[in-house]
Amino acid sequence: MAWQRPRPEVSPAQLDPIGPQRVRAVPGWDDPADLSKDPALVPELAETEVPEELRLEIEHHMTLYPDRHSAVIPALWAAQRLYGYLPSEAIHQVGAVMRVTPAYLSSIASFYDMLNEEPVGRNSVYVCTSVACHVTRAPEVFAAIREAAEGADLADTEIREFECLGACDMAPMASINGRYVGPLDPSDAPEIVASIAEGRRPLPGRGLEDEDFELPWKAERRGTTTAPAGTPEAEAGTHETSPSGTAPEGTPEAEAGLDPKEDA
Ligand code: FES
Repeated sequence: MAWQRPRPEVSPAQLDPIGPQRVRAVPGWDDPADLSKDPALVPELAETEVPEELRLEIEHHMTLYPDRHSAVIPALWAAQRLYGYLPSEAIHQVGAVMRVTPAYLSSIASFYDMLNEEPVGRNSVYVCTSVACHVTRAPEVFAAIREAAEGADLADTEIREFECLGACDMAPMASINGRYVGPLDPSDAPEIVASIAEGRRPLPGRGLEDEDFELPWKAERRGTTTAPAGTPEAEAGTHETSPSGTAPEGTPEAEAGLDPKEDA
């Protein structure tokens, strides 16, 4: 007789009465809609007070897509920036401008990690701890930031681990108030916490959007190393230059005798 995979233990309460082999899913997922209920209403814009700047921003996002529903995330994001989170009044206002129901917006706001229907703090520090960041000491960076924050008054700040933020080449990295910063080191933690507490931009020159941002490995490959931000060399705008400008020892380029500057 052929080998059969052993069946997992299933309690009688988990069994669907339709068939003893089917495990019941989340109760109610396939209940029919209650058609006797009033339909969900789209809030009337004329009866809803919406801050002018929020209405204009949402309308601008709606012009960018052929279907206005595609503007839901930037619209909710705009409301969250204004209020710090998405209270029901904010969802109602977005619904009035976009002509969608608050329930529709809430289903999206509750799905995405960066949208909060409860207040979590106006500042956010999301430390990526997914694979590329994890293997480059992200857990240590996260722990160091948490530890530094404990001694500081950062009541209005959410510090948490996050899944891949899509900037793996600057691993380990974090999104600090939406600004991508990296590669990070545990020793950066005190400066990150101090800058948030003082309302400053943390780690100038280390943010993806910063004009002078450059990944360290790119500079190394060119044979130059940018002085770390905050050092006298960085303030003087000087660069350390590798004397040879050759590829680092042990790399395929070094073995092939290639000059890394040639293909930079
Ligand atoms: S793994 Fe951290 S940004 Fe992708």
